Amino acid sequence: MHALHKYAGMAATSRVSVGVLGASGTTGGELVRLLLDHPGADLVFLGARESAGRSLGDVHPHLAAWPLGGVELSPLDDAPSLDVAFLSLPHGESARRAPELLDSGARVIDLAGDFRLPPQAYPHWYGFDHPASSWTEKAVYGLTELFREQILGAQLVANPGCFPTPVVVGLAPLLREGLIEPGRLVVDGKTGLSGAGRTLTEATTYTSSEESVRPYRVPLHQHTPEIEHALALSTGIEVRASFVPHLVPAVRGVLTTCYAEAAGGATTDVLTNALADAYAGEPFVRVLPLGAMADTKRVRASNVVELQATVDERTGTAIVIGAVDNLVKGAAGQAIQNLNVMAGFDETTALPAMGVYP
Ligand SMILES: NC(=O)c1ccc[n+]([C@@H]2O[C@H](COP(=O)([O-])OP(=O)(O)OC[C@H]3O[C@@H](n4cnc5c(N)ncnc54)[C@H](OP(=O)(O)O)[C@@H]3O)[C@@H](O)[C@H]2O)c1
Repeated sequence: MHALHKYAGMAATSRVSVGVLGASGTTGGELVRLLLDHPGADLVFLGARESAGRSLGDVHPHLAAWPLGGVELSPLDDAPSLDVAFLSLPHGESARRAPELLDSGARVIDLAGDFRLPPQAYPHWYGFDHPASSWTEKAVYGLTELFREQILGAQLVANPGCFPTPVVVGLAPLLREGLIEPGRLVVDGKTGLSGAGRTLTEATTYTSSEESVRPYRVPLHQHTPEIEHALALSTGIEVRASFVPHLVPAVRGVLTTCYAEAAGGATTDVLTNALADAYAGEPFVRVLPLGAMADTKRVRASNVVELQATVDERTGTAIVIGAVDNLVKGAAGQAIQNLNVMAGFDETTALPAMGVYP
């Protein structure tokens, strides 16, 4: 199968054929936008469900002017043999489709939550019995900075959720160093509306969301067990988290504020230095100096996690704030970062470290 699009003149040492199942969706569109700039990825399949038959540029007008803007989206069942398949599908649908792709030899990067948790967690947190439980055991959690070695050889990568990404990047080094207590973690999350995907609901209309800040799915959001599971995987320490997400009137952006009991002599300087040491040399983690505040606007359209840590000495509370663009580091960007690790490309290939501002 020939590539739908390549940049002329860009030299790549090795190439991989990739497909996006769910290319008509929000994260699927972002994957396509970023993959268009990838010199080693041949985008050979754009799959959709109801949008199959429509052109990419019709579904995503910002991509219309590109050479593949006129390409028709294909039915999901028509996926050819691929080196790497990105699944940008609703929860449950990924788990249903992944095994066939994996059995055909493709490496799969799932952007849904279908392979992030042990199979027994799915009925309670996702509302379905897992149809491919043996694959959940083989999946590698795709938080690149923490699981790079395992991602390298993985056939199936469970790309992290948008909220868990800044929470786990921010807390894992502090837990490991004994600078926060694992017992009772409180996480407050804010997300813009693109976090809900393209399907319009009453909660995501302009009239409902403008000038509104609204919590949702308290206390049953599916990212709660993911935060606990990913922190346990990366540190070996069991934590308990209470997580409350809020919908805010923005398009992109996730901000998480974590509260934990400070421990082990933690001060603001100690926490900041621990994070800076843990992520020294990481191109996509920015640990902010004392006094600077994490900001969703500043990371917009970039693959960066901004982190800021403070100790409230009066109450003995460690406060760790993280910001990501939910569609980039919180979804498509991190998925491409994982592709780069898996396929041996420079990890920063096709990924912006600079946001757009204001
Ligand atoms: N949005 C975010 O910020 C974000 C961040 C991290 C992870 N995720 C996860 O990424 C996945 C995709 O999210 P999204 O925001 O891109 O969703 P979305 O905008 O609603 O797009 C969903 C995609 O899946 C296809 N699809 C919808 N229902 C389907 C079904 N029943 N069977 C098969 N295909 C179906 C759609 O195709 P048609 O439109 O052609 O029907 C569309 O391409 C979700 O699991 C989500 O939780 C999202």
